[in-house]
Amino acid sequence: SESENPPVRRLSAWDAADLEELAATYETPLYVMDLGRVRENCRRLREAFPDADVRYAAKAHTGRAVFEAVRQEGLGIECASAGEVERAFAAGASGSEVQYTAVNPPDGDLDLVVQRWEDDPDLTVTVGARDTVERLRERGFDGRLCVRVNPGVGAGHHAKVTTGGHAKFGVPYSEAESVVLDARDDFDVVGIHAHAGSGISGDDLSAHREVVRRMGDLARAVEEETDLEFVDVGGGFGVPYREDEPALDLPAVAEATREALGDVDAQLAVEPGRYVVADAGVLLATVNTVKESEEYETVVGIDAGMTTLLRPAMYDAYHAIRNLSAGEDRNATSVTVAGPICETSDVLCEHRPLAAPARGDVLAVGNAGAYGYEMASTYNSRPRPAEVVLDPEPRLARRRESLAALTELEQ
Ligand code: LLP
Repeated sequence: SESENPPVRRLSAWDAADLEELAATYETPLYVMDLGRVRENCRRLREAFPDADVRYAAKAHTGRAVFEAVRQEGLGIECASAGEVERAFAAGASGSEVQYTAVNPPDGDLDLVVQRWEDDPDLTVTVGARDTVERLRERGFDGRLCVRVNPGVGAGHHAKVTTGGHAKFGVPYSEAESVVLDARDDFDVVGIHAHAGSGISGDDLSAHREVVRRMGDLARAVEEETDLEFVDVGGGFGVPYREDEPALDLPAVAEATREALGDVDAQLAVEPGRYVVADAGVLLATVNTVKESEEYETVVGIDAGMTTLLRPAMYDAYHAIRNLSAGEDRNATSVTVAGPICETSDVLCEHRPLAAPARGDVLAVGNAGAYGYEMASTYNSRPRPAEVVLDPEPRLARRRESLAALTELEQ
């Protein structure tokens, strides 16, 4: 069925003519976000985890239209900063939908979030260090508190996105029980939390299971002394980026999760980001230059680069690329697709067979909905791209950043 289509195949399911028309209308580089697919992904999560609280990890894509869509599908919003909390509220969320996960929080973040909580005391704050509890107490916060634990075990598509084990997050597992018990007199301790890492595939299931098992043990250890509402085992559900990668069997992951958790007197919670938005997004770019290189291979220069989509440069991430403008008559050639940034790492792919690109062609980069626009920067004084959402009709969701905006902060 359509909803089971692996994302890469989905890129070829997008109508090339429609995408080219969007590129012509809104210019490139352009992110296109299919809200229908976002909603479908939310439903698949809710079906796989029918008795769990499913929260959307906002960091994958903080666009207002996405927030509105996931809220309509009944997902809460997990926020990594005061900025994300503000944007969740701006998109209409109420405190009961918002969980703020503090990561070494600057004072300003805590000030803002505590202010929000004063107006809306259903907001939940997750702490990952004993002294964050203290800093909340100093600010008069005595509300809903969740303790983030480093489960000691991690997983993920790259060492840079593995958050359990050798990473900065959470209170050490060995101290978790005492942090929970110490907090319980002054706060409403409603949950415990762990996140193993991002981009978990079927091969990482044993690590995921182990994390969940440890959280189940912790929940049972503090059960008598607290009134836990939830055990949040994080997000991290991977999506296939390569054409030959199998899609994650979400119902199987859900079953493994429940089994590993065991009997706890609290609700299971999960907080995926990538799974919700990755395959709903495509990045469109235009070919500016094609050159042969003796030292390298054919270099296809496009108007999107590491400042538009950072993942290939940062994690060597693979994204499917398709030449929308090429008809059947063009042969596939091995190419490097490179951006306009003055950095050697500014390539989206190397040694990739692609229907021979020519100047003016429009390329589509798949699975760009998660950590795409979100990680864009203005390095090399390159304004950030525009974004269109399909709802289902296209509309401009974010204007292209202007050159003038780049100097706006200067005095
Ligand atoms: N919850 C917590 C506490 C997290 O730290 C993260 C991701 C998530 C949930 C959501 O993980 P997801 O379901 O999206 O895998 N920029 C990287 C990913 C960094 C993820 C950081 N934390 C990338 O593009 O692969």
